[in-house]
Amino acid sequence: MSTVELTGIGLLTTQTAEFGDLPNAAVLIDGDRIAWVGPAGSVPDADEQVDLGGRCVLPGFVDSHAHLVFAGDRSEEFAARMAGVPYSAGGIRTTVEATRAAGDEALTTRVAALTKEMRASGITTYEIKSGYGLTVHDEARSLQVAAQFTSETTFLGAHVVAPEYARTPADYVDLVCGDMLAACAPYARWIDVFCERGAFDADAARSVLLAGGRAGLGARVHANQLGPGRGVQLACEMGAASADHCTHLSAADIDALASSDTVATLLPGAEFSTRANYPDARRLLDAGVSVALATDCNPGTSYTTSMPFCIALAVREMGMTPNEAVHAATVGGAAALRRNDIGSITPGARADLVALDAPNPIHLAYRPGVPLVSAVWKDGLRVH
Ligand code: NIG
Ligand code: FE
Repeated sequence: MSTVELTGIGLLTTQTAEFGDLPNAAVLIDGDRIAWVGPAGSVPDADEQVDLGGRCVLPGFVDSHAHLVFAGDRSEEFAARMAGVPYSAGGIRTTVEATRAAGDEALTTRVAALTKEMRASGITTYEIKSGYGLTVHDEARSLQVAAQFTSETTFLGAHVVAPEYARTPADYVDLVCGDMLAACAPYARWIDVFCERGAFDADAARSVLLAGGRAGLGARVHANQLGPGRGVQLACEMGAASADHCTHLSAADIDALASSDTVATLLPGAEFSTRANYPDARRLLDAGVSVALATDCNPGTSYTTSMPFCIALAVREMGMTPNEAVHAATVGGAAALRRNDIGSITPGARADLVALDAPNPIHLAYRPGVPLVSAVWKDGLRVH
């Protein structure tokens, strides 16, 4: 395997307690892994050298929540919302219609385009959910498409009740837990459910997560996005890897998160695009909750593939320091996917790295909207 030495790193933000932030640093990559981290002068010899000219380097971002398998466009819905029309979970059905009508190739082409954008924004690991098919066939093919791009695939048949079951929602839950799960589980690592008014109540959500668990899938929950509810408590009770959104939290919800292994995944792109109040990240962090930041890339509520944009929102609107936001977008995302091989720069970890045209990662929030990502390595290969 060949080795590559990244030198001329003005500041290396490792996101580890051991190495912290190193000025004038170097990183040695051996194949797909990081082999060595330390001061620029003492790096071992390598087959190839890349001089980063004083740029700062941080771990590749881990986007633990994205809905990339879909067709259609909802820009008019966004424009109407900006003119005062409120968001409701029912908007998902517009995308369901377009997704069912699209061929596999069109879906694949769209995911390829979106993941390319993600890499350009510094994202090196992305989770991809189904959830816009809502039939056995369309959910299974959505996951087959997703699995071509990532091992972090999530079955979200319980996104909303499929339109055919509007009058018999309990039958839809049975379908999700039965034939749909059986067809999807071979392509999925995770199962997710939208626990919210207008989608699934806590009892239905629990059935879905339990069925997923029996099929070997780990749990994640869309929780407390549009209003208060039982989603966060359910996620903690079920040992879910992550409770996502967490926009409307009670003190008891925060206590439950703080005393569990469930990560609170915050998705400020959704509040931005639905003109809603942002979650209170400061309160979560001060309570000792593990926090992740993710894009929630989807055509309805957050059509962004930019982790730097989410970091800027987290800092400006959610009370996070720039360092906390970067930590949440790297180590936090990895924890939300229960991964310890990604999200930090340390020997043995995957060689997933981002170089910024900036002296430090504060610039991600300080220079919002500016494309600062100058190079990205995924598994040791330069991908952007
Ligand atoms: O995470 N909350 C549920 N799902 C998406 C929205 C999907 C849509 O409107 O199409 C979300 O915000
Ligand atoms: Fe989502």
